[in-house]
Amino acid sequence: MKPAALGFCVALLVFTDALAQNVEYKPDPNWRAPVEAAVRPNPLASRPETSAGGRKLFTRNCEECHGRDGKGIEKKHSADLQLPVVQSESDGALFWKITNGNTPRGMPSFSRLPELQRWQIVLYIRTLKPAAAITNATGNGGVEEAGKP
Ligand code: HEC
Repeated sequence: MKPAALGFCVALLVFTDALAQNVEYKPDPNWRAPVEAAVRPNPLASRPETSAGGRKLFTRNCEECHGRDGKGIEKKHSADLQLPVVQSESDGALFWKITNGNTPRGMPSFSRLPELQRWQIVLYIRTLKPAAAITNATGNGGVEEAGKP
């Protein structure tokens, strides 16, 4: 990253410090699922009811860092899972990130959870998609949401 870009990110972090949620989360460019992992479909895609179990797993394993609604906790530098930048990733990519973690940046690996439970959590993450992300898909860049006091 260029020094200017880094400075900009630091400024953003300082700016958002007052907020509990981590709206300025930027995925680590070096933490990317390989293509073959990213294209894996969610085997539970046709069973959306299993996201309820995903919610329980999320509460038990993820909430301490990502918050109850997945918005992330600024102090922990955890990802805001509602952000379009996260929601736009494929199920396979999210599964890969949950499986492998990014320990240098504080995201543990959850390979110890059974595979289907990890897919269940991915389903649950999809239910976190806020109205802002949907608006975003139509192309306003989330500006309205980000501009709120
Ligand atoms: C100890 C704190 C901690 C716990 C527990 C934790 N996370 Fe994270 N998570 C993080 C941090 C920190 C990041 C940001 C890593 C980075 O900056 O690269 C992250 C990033 C992520 C991302 C990447 C978002 C993206 O697309 O870039 C996903 C998905 C995620 N976490 C899901 C989960 C799930 C699901 C669980 C529970 C099974 C979980 N996390 C538990 C701290 C945690």
